[in-house]
Amino acid sequence: MKNKIKYCLTSVLFLVLVTNFVNAQSDDQCFKCHIDLDDVKANLYKADIHHLKGISCAACHGGDAASDDMDIAMSEEKGFIGVPSKENRYQVCTNCHSDVDKMKRFGSNLPTDQFEKLKISVHFQPSYDNKGPMADCITCHSVHDIKKVNDPASRVYPTRITELCGSCHSSAEFMKLYNPALPIDQVAKYRTSVHGNLNAKGDPNAAECASCHGSHEIQPVKDSRSLVYATNIPSVCANCHSDAKLMAKYKIPTDQYENYVSSVHGVALLEKGDLSSPSCNDCHGNHGAVPPGVESISKVCGTCHVLNMELFEQSPHKKAFDENDFPECESCHGNHLVKQATDAMVGTRKPSVCIECHSAEDDNKGFLIAGEMKELIDSLKTKDSETKIILDEAVQKGMDVSDADFSLKDVRQVLIQSRTTIHAFDLDKFKEQIDEGFIIVNKAKISGEEAIDEFYFRRIGLGISTILVTLLVIGLYIKLKKVEKKS
Ligand code: HEC
Ligand code: HEC
Ligand code: HEC
Ligand code: HEC
Ligand code: HEC
Ligand code: HEC
Ligand code: HEC
Ligand code: HEC
Ligand code: HEC
Ligand code: HEC
Ligand code: HEC
Repeated sequence: MKNKIKYCLTSVLFLVLVTNFVNAQSDDQCFKCHIDLDDVKANLYKADIHHLKGISCAACHGGDAASDDMDIAMSEEKGFIGVPSKENRYQVCTNCHSDVDKMKRFGSNLPTDQFEKLKISVHFQPSYDNKGPMADCITCHSVHDIKKVNDPASRVYPTRITELCGSCHSSAEFMKLYNPALPIDQVAKYRTSVHGNLNAKGDPNAAECASCHGSHEIQPVKDSRSLVYATNIPSVCANCHSDAKLMAKYKIPTDQYENYVSSVHGVALLEKGDLSSPSCNDCHGNHGAVPPGVESISKVCGTCHVLNMELFEQSPHKKAFDENDFPECESCHGNHLVKQATDAMVGTRKPSVCIECHSAEDDNKGFLIAGEMKELIDSLKTKDSETKIILDEAVQKGMDVSDADFSLKDVRQVLIQSRTTIHAFDLDKFKEQIDEGFIIVNKAKISGEEAIDEFYFRRIGLGISTILVTLLVIGLYIKLKKVEKKS
């Protein structure tokens, strides 16, 4: 009798299994027997998301989950495959996770693109000993104790992921087998950053390895498909830093991305594709608190704008800014919204940046000098345009002033250089440079004026010679007539 009931039950279960391939947890004979055996895997599997979804051991290992007879349950006829081999064990995962319909049958709406992405990623290359891929689903997610990714116990949960990625990336021995040139300091550096500090304290909102690099789709960082490629990274950072709700509790602004994209740097990188223009990580570093070789973020601009930095360091501002704790370049240029610099930034009237700190009161020296510098720039520019008009007039009069015209290019060069020299905030040095411009422009102006004078001189000369020639012709004519009459 007992056996009969058991047989019926099993048959019903078998049918359920065949039609649905899920069975209620308690009816998974594989699980039941292995639990009774106090099998490690079965014990782990108790809290596995797949077990909670009613998925049997047989879903991956094959066999007959309805039979409590181990010889039947684990028989080849019933499709038992034993332990999947290392080379293709990932296929037990893709069986479901790459199949939308199967996942739907479990009531799941998860994406089904993990393998599609993984198979072209840097991690799916052949392992050094040619035993399957270097990393597969199981390398990262483990097996038998898989948790939902937002479960703090998941191996890929934000506060645990550094352990996973670091298990390979912090190991010189392991990385040597694949790419000895790749640094192995990411985790160590990450720990020194604001993100890494928060992460170590258990905050899952701070950026971790996967929030910047992605998970299945990871490419070499120099590949333009990589999430951390210069032109892609701003929007990756913006995923969090432009999310007002997420950032609210940290009380920092959320306008960095918005400002950056309209800055001279953002436009150059994102619209003109100029890779020498900084992306977020060029100023903030990749893993560490600041980029390599930069002692503080306040000095990061100097890594590219070397000359401006050198001049600034020799300027009276250097000491004054240090004493007042003013950030260096940022005080005048901002950080995310750096705009094209213009002459209007100098001087004693809006929108000059000088007047933010210097004012007319007490004959402030900085204020006076700001005024004089602006005066020098303006008068050189005025002289330059006056000269251009003179040269144009000479050209219209058919005079060759191409040398002088060409030399005006040097005046513009002086003006461009003065925009850099200004960072010394030294009036004598600045004047010396502008004076070079005056010398050139004055010479050009003289050449232009001389050419015009010469034009008039030639015209008068031509007039006189025309009159002389006319007189001569008339004289000759009269002479001729006289000779004719005589004969
Ligand atoms: C009645 C008990 C029983 C049932 C039912 C049972 N097993 Fe086992 N299973 C065992 C025992 C005992 C071993 C270890 C001895 C051996 O290797 O044959 C084992 C071994 C295994 C192994 C390891 C094999 C290897 O090559 O190392 C796997 C995998 C496995 N079982 C999966 C399953 C699956 C899947 C089912 C259900 C389809 C299942 N078992 C049903 C008792 C059971
Ligand atoms: C989601 C798929 C999946 C499920 C479900 C699953 N396994 Fe496995 N199992 C695997 C894979 C893949 C391996 C090979 C792991 C490896 O290569 O390290 C494995 C390995 C094993 C091994 C061999 C372990 C070793 O170290 O040699 C045993 C035993 C085993 N599983 C038993 C079970 C039992 C019992 C269940 C149910 C309680 C179960 N598995 C459920 C995928 C699964
Ligand atoms: C029988 C089909 C099936 C197989 C085989 C399978 N899975 Fe799953 N997996 C599921 C289902 C169903 C869920 C739950 C989906 C949900 O909650 O929406 C799931 C959930 C997951 C999750 C958690 C996703 C989340 O919601 O956070 C991970 C990770 C995962 N599986 C990885 C694996 C890996 C790795 C393997 C291979 C060792 C594997 N799966 C094999 C069906 C399967
Ligand atoms: C290099 C490590 C790595 C490998 C290899 C890997 N995963 Fe993941 N997987 C992750 C991380 C990290 C997440 C968490 C998602 C995130 O933070 O973006 C994740 C998330 C998931 C999820 C949740 C849904 C989703 O797409 O985000 C599923 C399901 C999943 N992985 C299945 C797989 C399967 C199946 C494979 C093998 C084809 C695989 N994973 C290979 C790291 C990996
Ligand atoms: C805040 C974003 C961010 C986080 C968090 C992050 N990375 Fe990176 N990672 C980057 C950027 C940006 C690059 C460099 C891109 C470039 O050079 O153009 C990079 C480069 C890399 C490289 C290539 C070698 C190198 O060091 O330049 C590896 C490997 C790497 N990261 C692994 C990791 C690991 C492991 C973690 C977790 C500990 C991690 N990353 C966390 C943004 C991040
Ligand atoms: C099983 C070991 C292993 C794990 C786990 C692993 N990686 Fe890797 N990863 C590698 C190896 C090896 C390479 C180098 C491949 C090469 O250069 O040919 C690599 C390459 C990379 C690169 C590209 C570096 C470059 O060449 O620019 C990035 C980025 C990266 N991994 C990030 C991660 C992140 C993030 C994680 C965690 C989610 C992770 N890796 C987990 C082994 C691993
Ligand atoms: C997963 C979300 C996330 C991503 C992605 C992310 N961050 Fe963050 N970031 C945070 C959180 C949360 C903080 C903590 C804010 C705080 O405590 O001030 C933070 C802090 C910072 C800080 C320090 C702010 C301060 O307090 O001075 C900087 C700088 C920063 N992030 C830059 C970046 C850059 C650059 C990127 C892209 C390469 C990036 N972040 C990507 C979440 C993220
Ligand atoms: C040209 C260099 C530069 C670039 C590019 C840059 N930043 Fe910044 N960022 C700075 C400086 C300088 C600060 C001020 C740091 C300080 O005073 O401690 C800063 C501050 C921050 C802060 C702290 C909060 C705040 O607004 O003061 C965050 C967060 C941040 N940046 C994120 C980003 C993100 C995201 C991007 C890309 C969209 C980015 N940064 C691009 C230089 C830069
Ligand atoms: C990674 C290199 C790099 C870093 C770091 C960098 N810049 Fe730039 N910067 C550039 C490039 C390249 C351009 C030219 C963009 C273009 O094509 O218009 C530029 C343009 C500028 C301009 C406009 C120049 C003009 O002709 O008017 C100013 C001002 C400027 N940067 C200031 C800064 C400040 C301030 C910082 C630090 C907060 C900084 N830069 C950090 C590379 C950098
Ligand atoms: C006290 C204000 C001030 C500070 C501090 C300052 N600048 Fe400037 N910067 C200016 C002004 C004013 C101009 C524009 C001059 C003009 O166009 O006539 C300028 C122009 C520039 C330009 C465009 C001209 C060129 O040289 O290509 C760059 C780039 C630049 N600054 C970078 C920097 C960097 C880097 C720092 C920090 C080392 C810095 N600036 C600090 C005021 C400042
Ligand atoms: C962020 C504030 C700040 C800005 C903006 C600023 N300065 Fe200054 N500057 C100072 C401070 C502080 C000193 C130290 C002496 C003082 O208090 O006047 C100083 C000193 C100077 C000096 C040296 C004066 C002396 O005593 O020899 C000159 C020259 C100068 N600034 C020019 C400028 C010019 C030109 C601009 C605009 C392009 C400018 N500054 C913008 C803060 C600033």
